Amino acid sequence: MRINSKTKIVGIFGYPIVHSLSPVLHNAAFAKLGLDFVYLSFPVKPEDLEDAVKAIKSLNMVGVNVTIPHKRKVLDYLDEVDHQARMMTSVNTILHQDGRLIGYNTDGEGFLESLRREGEFDPQGKRAFVIGAGGAACAISFALVKTGIKSIILTNRTPEKAKILLERLKKNVKNQCKFSLVDFSQRNSPGIMDKVDLFINATSVGMHAGDSVLINPDLFPSNTFVYDVVYNRKTELLKEAEERNLPSLGGVGMLVYQATLSFKIWTSRKAPIDEMRNILRAEFNEHKVKG
Ligand SMILES: NC(=O)c1ccc[n+]([C@@H]2O[C@H](COP(=O)([O-])OP(=O)(O)OC[C@H]3O[C@@H](n4cnc5c(N)ncnc54)[C@H](OP(=O)(O)O)[C@@H]3O)[C@@H](O)[C@H]2O)c1
Repeated sequence: MRINSKTKIVGIFGYPIVHSLSPVLHNAAFAKLGLDFVYLSFPVKPEDLEDAVKAIKSLNMVGVNVTIPHKRKVLDYLDEVDHQARMMTSVNTILHQDGRLIGYNTDGEGFLESLRREGEFDPQGKRAFVIGAGGAACAISFALVKTGIKSIILTNRTPEKAKILLERLKKNVKNQCKFSLVDFSQRNSPGIMDKVDLFINATSVGMHAGDSVLINPDLFPSNTFVYDVVYNRKTELLKEAEERNLPSLGGVGMLVYQATLSFKIWTSRKAPIDEMRNILRAEFNEHKVKG
C-alpha cells in the first residue's frame, strides 16, 4: 500500500479498540480493488467522541465505523441518521458526504445476508428465538422483522433489557410479526422450542473455551437452523447443532457481510468478499483461534 496526499481515510472509533479485525478486513479489500483508501484504528474515549466525530469533517475523512461503546451516543453528533439505524438507536457506519455526516447500521443487514446467502435460509413466514438483548440481538431482531418473519421470541439474562428491546420493536414495527418474551429461567421449558425454525445466540456466551451452552440443544426440532453470532471460535452450541445434523452458521459471515456493506457505503464499490473472508481465516489461524 502506498499512502500519498490523495489517499482517502476511513477508520474505526471505539474504546478499547486493539482487537478489532476491521482494519485488516478493509485494507485487504482496498488493496485487492486497487483503491487509494486506508483504514485506521482510533481509540476514542467516551469523553472525546464529539471531538472525534467533528474531526471526520475537519480531516476530510470519507467515514468511519463506530463500535463499543459509542454506537448509541454517536447519534447525537450526526447530521442525518438512516431509518433502520434510527429505529435501533445504533450506528456502526458513518459516511461523510457533501459536508454532512450520515449514520447507518450494517450489522442487521450483514446478519441477513449471511443467513440467506451462506445459510440459504429465508426467514419469511418462519418463527425465530433470539437469546440476548444487547447490540447484536437488537440489530438482528430489527433486521428479521423486515423479512416478513412470522414471530420472534426474545429472552435475556437481564429481563429489563429484553423488555426494552421488545418495547422498541413493538413501537417501531407495524407489520404482522408477533413478539413474545420468555423469562430467562424458563427458556428450556417444554413447548417453547417446539415450533422454532431459527434459533439465534446473540449473546457473547461461547467466545471463550469452556463457556456453557445457554439452551438445551435436545429441545431443537429436527430442522431448526442454529445461528451463533460469536465469530472467534466454533462454539459448543455449533458443535451441538452439528452433532444433531442441524443446519448452522457461526458469526464470521455476519462480520464479513456487515463490513462489505460499510465498504459499499464509502466506496460505492462491491467489496471483494472472498478476499475478506480469507484474510479473516488467516487472522484466526495466526492467533491460534479456531474459526
Ligand atoms: N458476527 C458479527 O458480525 C457480530 C456483530 C456484533 C456482535 N457480535 C458478537 O455478538 C456477541 C454480543 O455482542 P453485543 O454487541 O450484543 O454485546 P452486548 O451489547 O454487550 O450484549 C451482550 C449480550 O450477551 C448477554 N450475556 C453476556 N454474558 C452472558 C451470560 N454469561 N449468560 C447469559 N447472557 C449473557 C448479555 O446479557 P445481559 O443483558 O444480561 O448482560 C447481553 O444480552 C459478542 O460475542 C460479539 O462479538 C458479532
